[in-house]
Formats: sequence, C-alpha cells, structure tokens
Amino acid sequence: MEELIAVLDFGGQYSHLITRRIRECEVYSGLLPYSTPPDELLRLNAKGIILSGGPASVYDHNAPKCDPRIFELGLPVLGICYGLQLMVDILGGHVKSTRRSEYGKTSLRILDHSDLFRAVPSNIVTWMSHGDYAESLPTGFEIIGNSANCSTASIRNSSSRFYGVQFHPEVAHTDQGTQIIRNFVTEICKCSPSWTAKSIIDTAVEQIRSSVGEERVLAAVSGGVDSTTTAVLVQRALKDKLTCVFVNHGLLRKNEENVVLQSLKGLELNVHYVDASEQFLQKLKGIKDSELKRKVIGEEFIKVFDEEGRKLGAFQWLAQGTLYPDVIESAGTGSVASKIKTHHNVGGIPQWSKFKIIEPLRLLYKDEVRKVAAELGIPDILVKSHPFPGPGLAVRIIGEVTQDKVRICKESSFIVEETLKRHRLYESVWQAFAVVGDDLAVGVLGDQRKLGHLVTVRVVQSVDGMTADWARIPESVLEEMSSQITGEVAGVTWVGYAITSKPPSTIEPC
Ligand code: XMP
Repeated sequence: MEELIAVLDFGGQYSHLITRRIRECEVYSGLLPYSTPPDELLRLNAKGIILSGGPASVYDHNAPKCDPRIFELGLPVLGICYGLQLMVDILGGHVKSTRRSEYGKTSLRILDHSDLFRAVPSNIVTWMSHGDYAESLPTGFEIIGNSANCSTASIRNSSSRFYGVQFHPEVAHTDQGTQIIRNFVTEICKCSPSWTAKSIIDTAVEQIRSSVGEERVLAAVSGGVDSTTTAVLVQRALKDKLTCVFVNHGLLRKNEENVVLQSLKGLELNVHYVDASEQFLQKLKGIKDSELKRKVIGEEFIKVFDEEGRKLGAFQWLAQGTLYPDVIESAGTGSVASKIKTHHNVGGIPQWSKFKIIEPLRLLYKDEVRKVAAELGIPDILVKSHPFPGPGLAVRIIGEVTQDKVRICKESSFIVEETLKRHRLYESVWQAFAVVGDDLAVGVLGDQRKLGHLVTVRVVQSVDGMTADWARIPESVLEEMSSQITGEVAGVTWVGYAITSKPPSTIEPC
C-alpha cells in the first residue's frame, strides 16, 4: 500500500491545495475528515499527518477537534494556521485572540534551517490569515520562525516531530512554500517520491484485475479525458473483458463523434457506437428550462446505455471516471460544496444496484488524470481538448433546443475553437464556445434588412472551473471570429463577446 500523508480537513479554504502540493512532490496525499480515528490513519498507511487551517477558533463552542490520540501514534504532525493552534491547545499550551490579526503577505524570519526550513532563505514572504495565535507553547516546543506581529509563527518539538506554521505554505503567495512542504514530507516523514503517473497506472491495473477477476465490464465513453483514461486502464488490466458504449446524443461538437471514434479505435478499445441524436432531440422538444433539459438528457442517456448494454451481453461491472473532488464532496470532509447547477455528467451513470462499480480515477485531480492519460499514450487531441459538459450543446443553447439552434451553436463554436487554434491560443484557455438563444437582431444582407440570431462568444480562463475570468482575446482575433461566423453560419446577424467572469456569471449560460 502507498505511503500516505493524511491531511485532516478543518474546513479551510486552502485544504485541497495542501494535498495538491504534497502530490507535486510525488508523494500520495488524501484529504480526510478531521475526525478520522487514529486506527484508520494507521490502516491507510499514513506516514505523516497535516492539520489544515479552518475558520474556527479553538475556543469556539463546537470548534472542530481531532482525536488527541493522533499525537500518540509516533507519526510526524504539521499544524497549519488553525492546525497549529489546535495542536498547541491539545498539547497543553495556550492560544489567544490577537488584536493585531495578520492577513495577507507577511514577512517571516526563520531562526532554524535544520529540518522544516532546510534550503529556505532566512527571510521569506508568507501568506497569513489569522486572528488567534499561540501565546504560550506546550512543553518540549521551541520557536523556529517569527513575524512582526506573531512571535510564534513557526514552532517545533524535535523529539516528537511535531511542527506548526501560522502561515499557509500551500498557497502560491508563500515563497518556497512547496519546499517547506517537501521538507516535511521527505525529510521529516521520510516518504520517498515514488507516486508517479507510472506507479498510479501499475497500482490501478493491479487493483482492477484483482477486483474483477474473470467477470465483464461495461463503460460509457464520450471521448473526454476521464472516460477515455478509465477505459484504457480497464482494458490494460482485462483486455477483451471490457466493452465500451459511446452514445451520440446529437449535442456534440462539430465532427466530434468521428474524431472520438477514430481516436478510441486507435487505442484498440472495443467501442460500440449508438447514434441516438434524433431520439434526444425529440425528447427535448418544447423544453426551455435548463435544469429540465439536463434531467431529460440524463434519463434518456441512461435508458439508451442500459438498452445497448443488455444487447451486448451480461456485465457485472460498470467503469466510471469519477474524480477526487467528487469523492471528497460526497464524503463531506468539511468543505462546503454549493450546488449551483446539477452537474450531470453523462459519462457518470448513477450507481445502479445491479452493477459493481470500478472507479480507477477516484483518487485523482483532473491535471493528474491528464498526466496518466499522456503516460498511457492517449492522443493529445483527447488529452488537451477543453472540458465539455455531459449535456453538451444543450447548456449552450438558451431556450428550446431546436435543430436550427444546434446547427448555429455547433458551427459557430467550431469557428471559435479553430480560430483560437490558428492563433495558438486554444491551449491557454479553459473553455471556448458560442452561445445561441432566441434573440434576433437586424442585419443587412446585400441591400436587404434581415432578422437573424445573436451569437455570443464565450472564452474563459480557469484552473478548475470553480471560478473563471473572461479571456482577454486580441481584438483582431475576435474580429476574425465574428466575420467568419456572420459570413459562414446562415441565420446569424450579430456576434457579441461575453465579458463577465465567474462569479457573478457561470461559465455555461444555462
Ligand atoms: P458553470 O457553468 O457551472 O460550469 O460555471 C463549470 C464547469 O462545469 C461544466 N458544466 C457541466 N459539466 N454537466 C457537466 O458534465 C453539466 O451539466 C455541466 N454544467 C456545467 C462547465 O462546462 C464548466 O467546465
């Protein structure tokens, strides 16, 4: 079993980043509920524990507290911000509220470079965000770093290997933050940097083989990086015991079904293709509400997939491309996930009781999946393609989904993407597409006034889709898109560019 650095989550906004920084050191890390029992940490092969930050004060009624016995496991512990204060409180020191709270970039003076701060300069800029601080330390602790307003900004108990930092090493604003985390993980916890794309693949293949044995697996594929990587991993493990089903709901990008089918066949996957576009358009007739569209598409997808699966034989397992953020949200580690849209990803089928489920990507973030995909030899056209919502163009068509609006959305989006590719801007943005609704605007065609659709181009930059900024595309490139759309897509008279970020907007218009 892999070595684990367990991050106990006290609800801090940066908790995810801690696991990500550790994984960048090629050591496996997971975000766990703050109440995880000590036995469970040992069972998971934890080699070190990090207590995350969080919004509470240790003196709050109901402040989240970990089991104090985690300090008796003999494992190194690093407390970050609230984590430091909690460690001090549990181990017998005193935490106090400060009148001079520190927020933002703060200078830290380092007093000792022997372990946590090895190879880190004596003065660094750190990111602080705290109102409480450790006024007196528990027995055995010493100060190894301070700031103007916090004399206990970094503390240590060398013999127990307990460390605390009042600042956030996991955020990009802290100089040398990754080095500090690397020191904790490799120098102090003695983990070896062996969690690589290759080791992830080997472990996944072995686990799939031992779970599935001689039984058969069905997988829904869409050409997206998650479902493709899932299928290739299962195929590596089980060869011809895997069958993939690719359902075309008619709301794919231009030519997408051909590109996807060709790429999947190149990967030697056994793919069964179903063109159900007419059926989906029929079902969507008259529906204007976007959540209802999602629901109808989701239900229809399951129906088609189920029917095709039955025709193809008996399957005991279903492979799904579930990612780590989904697992974390459903496990409830303290992070608050507000549901703005029902993200029904048609690659992810509800957990039907008749199937046993394999989710080989359930411990990975999207960028880690991309690395695994590249290592598996999945072509760039799939790995680097922008994320595409399960309900497809239906969430880019405002109001009813009609054949004509699908055509306008598809053709215009194609022009948007191809123009960005020509200018080498495609890979630097998160998503790029065209939106069409029912608004009509007057244009001139020859000498004639003519009513046509208004198309809105949306190009955004984002790290994870949770927040996004509208992309500052050069005017000349926008003009190229606009002329091509009005010139080549029949029925469009106006082109606009969306200049709102998320929030307050969302990325997709509906
Ligand atoms: P929003 O529009 O919520 O989008 O800002 C954030 C990210 O999620 C994608 N998205 C979806 N993905 N099913 C999906 O699989 C959906 O219903 C859905 N709605 C939005 C969106 O493309 C963006 O990457």
